[in-house]
Amino acid sequence: MNIRIFDQEKELNTTGAELIASLVQNKPKAVLGLATGSSPVGIYNELIDMYNRGLVSFVSASSFNLDEYVGLPVSHSESYRSFMNNKLFHHIDIKMENTHIPDGNAADLDAECTRYEELLVNQGPVDLQLLGIGHNGHIGFNEPGASLTGSTHVVNLKEETLKANARFFPSIEDVPKQAMTMGVASILKAKHIVLIARGEDKAEIIRTALTGPITTECPASLLQCHPNVTVLLDRGAGRFM
Ligand code: F6R
Repeated sequence: MNIRIFDQEKELNTTGAELIASLVQNKPKAVLGLATGSSPVGIYNELIDMYNRGLVSFVSASSFNLDEYVGLPVSHSESYRSFMNNKLFHHIDIKMENTHIPDGNAADLDAECTRYEELLVNQGPVDLQLLGIGHNGHIGFNEPGASLTGSTHVVNLKEETLKANARFFPSIEDVPKQAMTMGVASILKAKHIVLIARGEDKAEIIRTALTGPITTECPASLLQCHPNVTVLLDRGAGRFM
């Protein structure tokens, strides 16, 4: 595991963006695994900047997002489809048909999970998977528990996650209670995983996940089993490392 701690946010963002850009430069048909939330936004901004400067093109690349809320209209500003369109896809040359996000409004959610997982298997493996981490150690929306699900599935979000995501909605009641997420096995199939965490409030869970026991009670701890993980932390998130 390659753990890097940055004093400057800018440096963290350019390092993350360069990992993605150099992958796509060397392998134009790269399959990117993408995340939403606040952690990757600075990296997306750097990628947009690199694209605008003609340094990278995503025209042949494809992407798979980790997760999507269940029952939130795609047009809602907080749907993960809206997030990705607004924060990245609409500002670069990736073809929209090559961007994949689970359909949280599918009539048959289980069938949609199967479809998404099959697409991932057929078009994968993911070359580089970006991940954030929840305060409870979730990756994607794989919440802590006695067991974890390997492939894409529907999940009931934990109270902690609803609280953390309430900042994006008018109130906690408006946060969808369910989501669809890639499973832990789907995530671990990626060739390279890049975990990002920012802020002192992530310091404790980063220490637990990266140096504590490997347990389903901290899904991110399973990253210790992966042979190629890069961790990008700001000074706050890295203060116990
Ligand atoms: C987002 C996702 C989540 C977030 C995590 C951290 O697609 O899968 O696991 O990465 O909740 O969120 P932020 O980055 O907002 O702290």
